[in-house]
Parts: sequence; structure tokens; C-alpha cells
Amino acid sequence: MDMWHGLVCVAVLFAAEIGAITVIGQDVTVAAGDDALLFCQLVETTEPLTSVIWQRQTKEKATNTDFFAVTSDGKEEHINGLRDRVKFTGNILRLNGSILLSNVTALDEGIYTCIFSIFPSGPYKTEIRLTVLVPPVVSVSTDVPPVAGDAEEILATCTAANAKPAAEVLWSLGALSDSVKVQTNVTVDSEGRFTVKSSLIGVASKDLNQKKVQCLVTHPGLKGKLELNYTLIIHYPPEVVYIISAGDQGKACEFQCEADANPKPTNFIWSRHFPVKEPLSSGVNSCQLTPDSNGLYYCVVSNQYGKAVGSLYVHVTSTESTACWILFIIALLVGVLVMIQCPLYLQNRTRRVDVWVVQTSLLGPYLAVVEGLILLTVSFFPGT
Ligand SMILES: *[C@@H]1O[C@H](CO)[C@@H](O)[C@H](O)[C@H]1NC(C)=O
Ligand SMILES: *[C@@H]1O[C@H](CO)[C@@H](O)[C@H](O)[C@H]1NC(C)=O
Ligand SMILES: *[C@@H]1O[C@H](CO)[C@@H](O)[C@H](O)[C@H]1NC(C)=O
Ligand SMILES: *[C@@H]1O[C@H](CO)[C@@H](O)[C@H](O)[C@H]1NC(C)=O
Repeated sequence: MDMWHGLVCVAVLFAAEIGAITVIGQDVTVAAGDDALLFCQLVETTEPLTSVIWQRQTKEKATNTDFFAVTSDGKEEHINGLRDRVKFTGNILRLNGSILLSNVTALDEGIYTCIFSIFPSGPYKTEIRLTVLVPPVVSVSTDVPPVAGDAEEILATCTAANAKPAAEVLWSLGALSDSVKVQTNVTVDSEGRFTVKSSLIGVASKDLNQKKVQCLVTHPGLKGKLELNYTLIIHYPPEVVYIISAGDQGKACEFQCEADANPKPTNFIWSRHFPVKEPLSSGVNSCQLTPDSNGLYYCVVSNQYGKAVGSLYVHVTSTESTACWILFIIALLVGVLVMIQCPLYLQNRTRRVDVWVVQTSLLGPYLAVVEGLILLTVSFFPGT
């Protein structure tokens, strides 16, 4: 007896399931700025439709609020300000209650309810979730330029701001992947928007200056992957100072002091003494080489992080000599020589002079990475 009872019950439920009047809806996800088709359809009825009403519930307004209604005679009513952003795209006769919500913003995200009123059995409804994807605003920068040193610092930060959901931020580091690490922080604001900050952290060294990295941002609201190129900027004090001849061969008595530094050196001081005493005025354009001109000349270069010195040995003689090469070898043995101009023949009236340029700063491997050179042209032989 009990078993029969149970079977009947199941049969009734089954029938109800098959023939039930239902509203079919479909959750939808769109990117901000796009249009959202909110699909809603009533099925399994022949009863006359009196109206379709749309309500929504958003973060801004957490209670169900009517915003659109259409009656069986096709009369549309816009309520509560969405106005021309809502367009009825369904078909009353076919019990299609779909609407198009144009130019969707993050504030439109929420639960939409579509209610069909039919006579006599009453209202039927369903809920549709509208999810709005907000693509990130992206940038790569450094708040404070990293300065070469021993401690780990933030070398660059890639930011994908105000996105929904959170964007994925990755770095393409190439050869740098061994020397830097990545730290990523995510924050969320009151509107549920995520800001992802991914920082490159490493020991800032001069070698990293001008190295290229790439920040890769992916987000479902973006059509493709964003690639942001960035060139690392590392500040460092002058590390290499060297002096080159600036004039043409034969009448060269101008020398340029060059430095490897970032930012570019702000100050160049020439002197015959080190530490500097009696700085020589640069730009004196006279080529009088006398025996008094012989000796060491120093160029002190500085930026806000420090200074460095380069030196130049000038020897004026009337005979060509092999001393230059001896000097070269000595300097090599001492291990300080980096550049030698050997010799420069300077024609000064009838006298033939050799000027030897011996550098004492250590160029070593840095020679190839000279960035942002500043050239200072000086004549350091004041007229008599
Ligand atoms: C209902 O209307 C929408 C929007 O016009 C349309 O995409 C959909 O195919 C219609 N559904 C049916 C079952 O006709
Ligand atoms: C879409 O909405 C945004 C923000 O409300 C507005 O600035 C923009 O002009 C709108 N675009 C169109 C095509 O209506
Ligand atoms: C990430 O967050 C932690 C904890 O709030 C903070 O100490 C760290 O400096 C942040 N890192 C970056 C790269 O912003
Ligand atoms: C970024 O760099 C890559 C190679 O490193 C290059 O192919 C690409 O064109 C660059 N993109 C932009 C926008 O400059």
C-alpha cells in the first residue's frame, strides 16, 4: 500500500516537471562598454500574457527594483533611469521577454529578474546573473629610480589597476630571470575592482641599466594579451672617467673628459692637482704647449650620487720616442691602464710634440656599456 503511494507521488512530480510553465534565462558575462543581451523566455503555456517586467538588484541598490515593463499590447515603460540603454528585443506573441542593455558598466553587474504575468496562473520568473568584466588600466614604472648598491630594491613595477576580475600579470625577463625576482601584491577596492602590482626586485647594478623587460597582462575583458615594453633605469655615480682627444690629429690640444654615469654628470672639473686645487677653466682655446704643460691633468666628474676622477699625462717632447710604449707596458703591469693614445702628434708651430694620454681609471668590461656619455671639451693649456 505504502509502495503504491510512493509511486503515485513520483509520477505526479514527474508530470509536473515535464509540463511545467517555466521561464528560461541565461547568465551573461560582458566586458564593460559592450552590450548585454539578457535572454528570457516563457515556455509550456498557452495562457495569455499580460506583461513582462524586469527588475534588478545591484551592489548600488541591493533590493529588487523594477526598471522595465512591456505589456501584451506592446506598450513599453522605462522606470528608474536606465531609459534608452534598455531596448526590448523579444517578442510578446512568442513569449520572448529578452532585452538588450547597452554600454554596460561595472555598476550594472547584478541579478536581473524577468517576470512573466500570465492569466490566470499568475507570475513566473527567473533570475539572470550579469557579470561585467572590467579590463585593467596598465602601466610600468618605478616610483623612485633604483640606485646601484648592495641592497635589494624595486627595479620596476607593472600595475594592472581597477580590473574585474583581477588581471594576471607576468614578466618576460629573458636573461635577467636569474638575477631578479618578482613580487606580486593584489588589492581590492570597495567596488570589487582589483589592482595587481607586480614588482621586479633585485640588487640594482649598473649592468642592469637599459636592460629591456616586458610585462605581460592578461584579462578576460581584454581582446588579447597586453605586452608592455620597459627599459630598466638604474642610477649610478660616475664609475669610469676617461679622456679622449677632441681635435684633429696634428693640431689636437683639446681633450674631452667622458664619464659613464646615470644620470649624466652635472659637473666636470679639470685640475692639475688631485684632490682638486686651482681648477682650470675649461674652454680656453689656446694651443700653447710649453714644457710647463707637462705633467698630470685630472678631470673630476660628479652627479648626485658621487664622483670619479680620470687623469691624463701630458709630456711634450721634440723627439719621437718609444717611451710611450714603455709606459703602456708599465701601466699594463700595474693593471690600471685602460686607454692610451700613443702618441698624439701635436704640431705647434715648428715644434713637434708628442702628447701621451694615459688613463688611470679602470674601464674593464664597462667600456661596452657606456651610456649617456657627456662630452666636455676643454682646452687646458691657458694662453700665456
Ligand atoms: C528571443 O529574443 C532574442 C533577442 O531578440 C533572440 O536572440 C532569441 O533567439 C529569441 N528567442 C527565441 C526562442 O525566439
Ligand atoms: C558608455 O558609458 C560611458 C560611461 O558611462 C560613457 O562615457 C560613454 O560615452 C558611453 N558610450 C556610449 C556609446 O554611449
Ligand atoms: C606587498 O605587500 C607587502 C605587505 O603589505 C609589503 O610589505 C610589500 O612591500 C609589498 N610589495 C610591493 C612590491 O609592493
Ligand atoms: C616590444 O619589444 C619587442 C621585442 O623585445 C618588440 O618585438 C615589440 O615590437 C615591442 N613592442 C612595442 C609596442 O614597442
